[in-house]
Amino acid sequence: MIERTVQILANERVADQYFRLVLRAPEIAPLVQPGQFAHVRILRLKEALLRRPFSIFQVEGDTFSILYKQVGKGTEVLAQMAPGETLSAIAPLGKGFAVPPPGGETPLLVAGGYGMAAMYLLAKRSPQKGIVFVGGRRQVDILCADDFRELGWEVRIATEDGSLGSKGLVTQPLRAELERTTAGRRLYACGPTPMLRAVGLLAEEFRVPAELSMDEHMCCGVGVCLACVIRVKSGDGWEYQRTCTEGPVFDARQIVWEGQP
Ligand SMILES: Cc1cc2nc3c(=O)[nH]c(=O)nc-3n(C[C@H](O)[C@H](O)[C@H](O)COP(=O)(O)OP(=O)(O)OC[C@H]3O[C@@H](n4cnc5c(N)ncnc54)[C@H](O)[C@@H]3O)c2cc1C
Ligand code: FES
Repeated sequence: MIERTVQILANERVADQYFRLVLRAPEIAPLVQPGQFAHVRILRLKEALLRRPFSIFQVEGDTFSILYKQVGKGTEVLAQMAPGETLSAIAPLGKGFAVPPPGGETPLLVAGGYGMAAMYLLAKRSPQKGIVFVGGRRQVDILCADDFRELGWEVRIATEDGSLGSKGLVTQPLRAELERTTAGRRLYACGPTPMLRAVGLLAEEFRVPAELSMDEHMCCGVGVCLACVIRVKSGDGWEYQRTCTEGPVFDARQIVWEGQP
């Protein structure tokens, strides 16, 4: 984990409210593991002290990029920033995905919306190519599918309004694939909590291992404030764990979901 002032090399709209930000960070880029995140301070923002967490999308040479959706104050200011301006980044943070070993499991990746960003490095570094199941409300929420195709991965798309791919939730084509075969498969997922929960339930039903990236709201990002905790099984009960340090990626079998005792 390193804190650095990083320079913006590009900050371009890729679709609708989604932007890709490329940062020059020669000391951070070589350290990044799939599923880790950067905690970014937007210096231009009035309440600049509060950082925003973003998954690290791609790493190339001495740069890394993030794929972000403009949703509120911080990302609105971020979207207005231009190449040459600087941000402060603490990165890489958190425990990411376990890359399968050569000859190991075939990964099935499941992503909702900007969850695709957390998946790219895993797809790039996995020795086995697998399938990416990507879901969103509408066609514009389906991001960077071509980046995965360029890596030689199969992409299966589902949109809730049917504007691209099959109509419905991303867990429907995933279920169909698991009904076809589960042998040597491992699930990895990042997206909205209801999607993660549904993937966790499918993993349990089909007895397939699954790693889920739990993107809770964060403050400090480095394990101090406890704003980001989730419940995780421990012995006969459960304990709180911090998604920023023990996560964001957890074994699906360990998670105690809202409403569960
Ligand atoms: C580990 C991790 C990885 C993330 N990766 C990405 C990414 O790759 N791309 C991306 O676009 N976003 C990502 N996020 C979410 C991102 O951090 C928030 O969208 C961002 O902080 C919003 O900042 P803001 O000031 O624009 O919005 P705010 O004004 O703070 O909030 C605007 C709206 O966004 C919601 N929001 C804020 N934080 C989150 C969050 N963590 N999850 C869901 N909703 C949130 C708020 O509830 C509110 O409705 C990630 C979050 C975490 C914890
Ligand atoms: S965000 Fe502070 S402990 Fe996780």
